Amino acid sequence: MNTAPRTYAIRVDGHLDDHWSAWLGELDLARDDDGTTVTVSVADQAQLHGVLAGLRDIGAVITELRTTGTPAPICPSVLERPLQTERLTLRPATADDADPTWAFRQLKSVNEWLTGCPADLEGYRELFSKPARLATTVILTLGHDPEAPTIGDFMLRREDAWAQLDVADQARDTQAELGWVLDPAFTGHGYATEAGRELLRYCFEDLGVRRVTANCFLGNDASWRLMERVGMRREVHAVRESLHRSGRWLDTVGYAILEQEWSPA
Ligand SMILES: CC(C)(COP(=O)(O)OP(=O)(O)OC[C@H]1O[C@@H](n2cnc3c(N)ncnc32)[C@H](O)[C@@H]1OP(=O)(O)O)[C@@H](O)C(=O)NCCC(=O)NCCS
Repeated sequence: MNTAPRTYAIRVDGHLDDHWSAWLGELDLARDDDGTTVTVSVADQAQLHGVLAGLRDIGAVITELRTTGTPAPICPSVLERPLQTERLTLRPATADDADPTWAFRQLKSVNEWLTGCPADLEGYRELFSKPARLATTVILTLGHDPEAPTIGDFMLRREDAWAQLDVADQARDTQAELGWVLDPAFTGHGYATEAGRELLRYCFEDLGVRRVTANCFLGNDASWRLMERVGMRREVHAVRESLHRSGRWLDTVGYAILEQEWSPA
């Protein structure tokens, strides 16, 4: 059962006087111009039942009951703090990073290899700013200046390894998956390699995971060559496994590196 706290709003026919507020447990009552009253901020199910009973007792006609302001799940970034490499800054994403990443993600040559990109910026902003997406997105900027231009975004997702049920606790958060996108204006300089190496270091040294994975279409040479440059090993070649938007079923490759195979550059 979802136990996330919720708040509720209840609308009733007619204007309720303020003195009913105390009867209903000191609730704020907002009287709308349309002749209805809304009680807001009913904090939880227990209070909700009490308020509904109170409204029934005074003969109020309930016309609407809805959840409001369900608190967003707390979703901290997997990157606990910004990281610096020789040429780059890697930092947790914020909703403000939607526009600069849209600029390169919507390009045909980039989107060619990605899961997808909404057709308009509004749709992209909505997708990009979802808490779970922000929590797993790492922004790459060139240089160490706070105003430095964004040149790409990486995905870093921490995950559980597969395990039998009785040892599943021990497999929790023991893996991470990497993904990457560079603005094509900044490819060919080793920036993705530099960021990838730093994120591997972060995974093994700071997060303490035991294995890091990455996947791509076999036809995406730039991506699997990057996996090899950062020391990952090809583990899987799946044949005609994934459907590309061109309508073709494409081969995919899966790479991984274990903590004991990794060595700092
Ligand atoms: C995948 C992607 C991030 C790789 O970018 P990239 O620029 O090739 O990778 P790097 O930044 O590490 O640069 C490596 C290239 O720069 C060259 N290079 C120059 N200086 C370098 C340095 N100091 N260190 C390493 N490489 C260097 C390398 O020789 C290599 O060039 P080559 O491919 O001609 O051999 C990029 O192609 C991309 O964003 N693609 C579109 C999105 C995508 O496909 N994402 C993956 C989905 S699974």
